[in-house]
Amino acid sequence: MSVTAKTPPQTFHVKSFGCQMNVYDGERMAELMAAEGLVGTADADAADLVVLNTCHIREKATEKVYSDIGRLRKRARERGADAPMIAVAGCVAQAEGEEIVRRAKVDVVVGPQSYHNLPELVARAASGEAALDTNMPLASKFAHLPARRRVGASAFLTVQEGCDKFCTYCVVPYTRGAEVSRPYAAILDEARALVDAGAREITLLGQNVNAWSDDDGRGLHDLIVALDRLPGLARIRYTTSHPNDMAQGLIEAHRDVASLMPFLHLPVQAGSDRVLRAMNRAHTVDGYLRLLDRVRAVRPDIALSGDFIVGFPGETEAEFAETLRLVDRVGYAQAFSFKYSPRPGTPAADLAAAVPAEVMDERLQRLQAALNRDQAAFNAASVGRRCTLLIERRGKLPGQWLGKSPWLQSVHLVGDHAIGDLVEVTLAAAGPNSLTGAVAVRDAA
Ligand code: 5AD
Ligand code: SF4
Repeated sequence: MSVTAKTPPQTFHVKSFGCQMNVYDGERMAELMAAEGLVGTADADAADLVVLNTCHIREKATEKVYSDIGRLRKRARERGADAPMIAVAGCVAQAEGEEIVRRAKVDVVVGPQSYHNLPELVARAASGEAALDTNMPLASKFAHLPARRRVGASAFLTVQEGCDKFCTYCVVPYTRGAEVSRPYAAILDEARALVDAGAREITLLGQNVNAWSDDDGRGLHDLIVALDRLPGLARIRYTTSHPNDMAQGLIEAHRDVASLMPFLHLPVQAGSDRVLRAMNRAHTVDGYLRLLDRVRAVRPDIALSGDFIVGFPGETEAEFAETLRLVDRVGYAQAFSFKYSPRPGTPAADLAAAVPAEVMDERLQRLQAALNRDQAAFNAASVGRRCTLLIERRGKLPGQWLGKSPWLQSVHLVGDHAIGDLVEVTLAAAGPNSLTGAVAVRDAA
């Protein structure tokens, strides 16, 4: 590890890769460093300390950390400046901590469950000591984090972390650890703080967010009902869910809780029961479809989203065709799809019968064409709908704003608005990725 003392950093930059939970963790690390008196900078090249908050989910995501480290150092050399102190956080840190130190000689390595120790690790690195912490302490990091600062109109709030499902392709149970739910009261406190800091929408985050529970027998829907009563909070979302944790109470919340948005991200991964079994998904295609029927029965306008993996080892053309058939049956409003990437230490990485790269490419293209078609169709079908838009940021054009519909569509709106406004609009012209809105009545929410 670094052996020479360095000047303690005064400025920092946090760069998060991967999922929304990393975005949340990145915000909390930034708050932590700011509380220590460091000044945040938007330009990584101008920072004394760069925190790379990494993702390990696929090989490509993992490799990004090494190219980023190389780029940061090269640009510092070109400017004749000292290389910044580099802290690798997130899931690559957890999975490959020692290797990163060996391969890239970074100053600090900190895992996703111990980043509350970041200031201490940075201080240790500055004095030339080894600074690696990938512990998964029983005591929660959340208790050691400073209060929330100003946030945008839409904020993330991690309520659950980790995964006990052990899908055979996935590193999450190893990098994020076992399923843990944060306490009810701590979540409500943080939600209040987020609303005070400007949030009008909160997205509850968890690797299996719908597995959230507490010792008093509460489930995610109880949390949602409590948040619905929070003055100033207009919208609630949650992600990512597992089909097997979709309790009836949560389904009914989509009917009964007005501030719970009509959107459900429910990954299925594949459309063949044999592949699902090989993935250890513990649900069938039919079970998934019946679940969606139950959700649609209580909330007919719900927008559905999912995750898919193509080219899982042994996936045949006929099995892939079943995925396309499932997509046709569901009609997703949006979805994410990936080529299978073998991850070290996962059971699937040992499976023979790898699908050739060109076959995977071709399947991904066909799947994405189908998903894009359905997303465009969903957007086209929304034209003429009246709904509330939450304004999240300025658009690129003068007087233009960007907001989200209840169905998580990006909507452009021109006029005299402000971030955090809730504007009643009629959805107009639809593109594949966004729509435009026309104001109906101002601030009707
Ligand atoms: N290869 C490809 N995609 C993966 N995902 C998880 N692990 C892998 C892997 N090894 C995808 C799944 C998951 C999403 C977050 O990433 O679709 O739902
Ligand atoms: Fe990974 Fe499966 Fe857990 Fe999702 S449910 S985090 S895909 S192991």
